[in-house]
Amino acid sequence: MPHTQTASRLRPFGTSIFAEMSVLATQHNAINLSQGFPDFDGPEFLKAAAQQAIEIGHNQYARTQGVPALNEAIAAWWKRGGGCEVDPHAEITVTSGCTEALAACCLGLLEPGDEVVCFEPFYDAYLADVALAGAVPRAVTLRPNRDRSAFGFDETELRRAFTPRTRAVLLNTPHNPTGKVFTRDELALIADLAIEHGTIVLADEVYERLVFEPARPHISIASLPGMAERTITLSSLGKTFSMTGWKIGWAIAPPAFTAGVRAAHQFLTFASATPLQHAAAVALASEEGEAYVEQLQRDYAKRRRFLADALTELGFGVIEPEGTYFIMADHTAVSERLGLTNGKGEPADDFVMSRWLIEHAGVATIPPSVFYHDKMEGRKYLRFAFCKRAETLRAAVDRMRTAIGSARRVQA
Ligand SMILES: Cc1ncc(COP(=O)(O)O)c(C=O)c1O
Repeated sequence: MPHTQTASRLRPFGTSIFAEMSVLATQHNAINLSQGFPDFDGPEFLKAAAQQAIEIGHNQYARTQGVPALNEAIAAWWKRGGGCEVDPHAEITVTSGCTEALAACCLGLLEPGDEVVCFEPFYDAYLADVALAGAVPRAVTLRPNRDRSAFGFDETELRRAFTPRTRAVLLNTPHNPTGKVFTRDELALIADLAIEHGTIVLADEVYERLVFEPARPHISIASLPGMAERTITLSSLGKTFSMTGWKIGWAIAPPAFTAGVRAAHQFLTFASATPLQHAAAVALASEEGEAYVEQLQRDYAKRRRFLADALTELGFGVIEPEGTYFIMADHTAVSERLGLTNGKGEPADDFVMSRWLIEHAGVATIPPSVFYHDKMEGRKYLRFAFCKRAETLRAAVDRMRTAIGSARRVQA
C-alpha cells in the first residue's frame, strides 16, 4: 500500500493550517488568536430558538433548498442590506456554512479547465474548491498601498488575469485575511471586466456586517449595474451571530445559477441541520438579531483598536483592517530585533515568527503565506484574530510584551 491514500487532486493541500495551529496552540497552552472563531458564545435568544425548534419537533430532513422561513428571512435580510428583490424559494439555497456554498458553486458551475480569477491571499478553501472542480486559479495579489493605509491591487495585474478561459471571479469582501473592504470603484472595475469577459462572480460576503470605517461601507457587487444577473452571493450566520459551529450558510443567485448550486448541494449534504435553520430564521428576521449585530460590531471596533495599537507599540507594522475580525501585521521589525532567522541565515519568515510567538509568548497566530499562491508574498506577515473577549486580547498582548521585552533584554 502506498503511504498516502489521499486522492491526488487533494494531496497538494495537506492539513488545513487552522487545524495545525490549533493543535500547536493546545500543546503550548497558548492563547489562540489563530483560527477565526469567537471565544464567547452567541446570543442567548438564538440558543433558546434552537432549543425550541428541537423541542417542537423540527428534527427531520429539511427541504433541500432550506426551510421556507429561513429562505424568506435571508431574502429580507439581503434586501435590507442593499440587495435586490429575490424569490426566496427559487433564488436562495441554504447550505452547511459558506464553506459548502463555495464547494457547491465550484462543483455545480465550473467545468474542468475553466479559469477562476481570485485575489490572494485567499481563504484556504478557495484553491481546494477550484481544484475539486478541475478548474484553474489565476491569482491577483493584494498588497499594501503606498501609505500602508490599506491593501489594494494593481489594475494591470487584474486585467492580465482575465483570459478567454475565465469563467468566474471569486471575490471576498470584506476580505480575510487582509481586512480589506473593496471600494465601489474597485468593484466597478471588477464588474466591468466580468461583463466584458462574460464571466460570473462568486461573491463571498461572510463578513458583510463586520465593517469599521464609515467611509468604507460594505458593498455587494451584485448591487452594481448589470451584476445581479451574473453574481452568486454567498454568506453565512457564523461570523455575524458568533455561531461559527452552526454552519448555516446560503447562496443567492438567479435561477439558472441556483440550479447549478443545487445540483451539487443535493449530493454534498442534501440539507443543513433543520432546527438550526429555524433558529437562523429568528436571528435574521428579529429585532433582537439586529440589535445583537449592531452591538457586536461596536465591540469588535473597540477590540480592533486595542489590538492594532498594541501590535504597533510592540513593533509590528499594522495595516488597519477596514472589516472582518483579522489584523495582518508585518513582523519584519520585530523578528529582526529578536534576531530570528529561518535557520539558513535568512530573515525569519512567517512560520518562524509564528512558532516563536507560540513557544515563547504562548500566543498562537496564523502564518499567512499559506494563503498565497506565491508563498514569498506572505512571509513577512502574521494574521491575528480579534474575535475574542477583551480579557483574552489583553492577556495575549501582556504575554507578547513580556516575551518580546525579555528577549530584547537578554540580547542587549
Ligand atoms: C472568507 C471566508 N469564507 C468562508 C468562510 C467559511 O464560512 P462558514 O463557517 O460559514 O462555512 C470563512 C470562515 O472563516 C471565511 O473566512
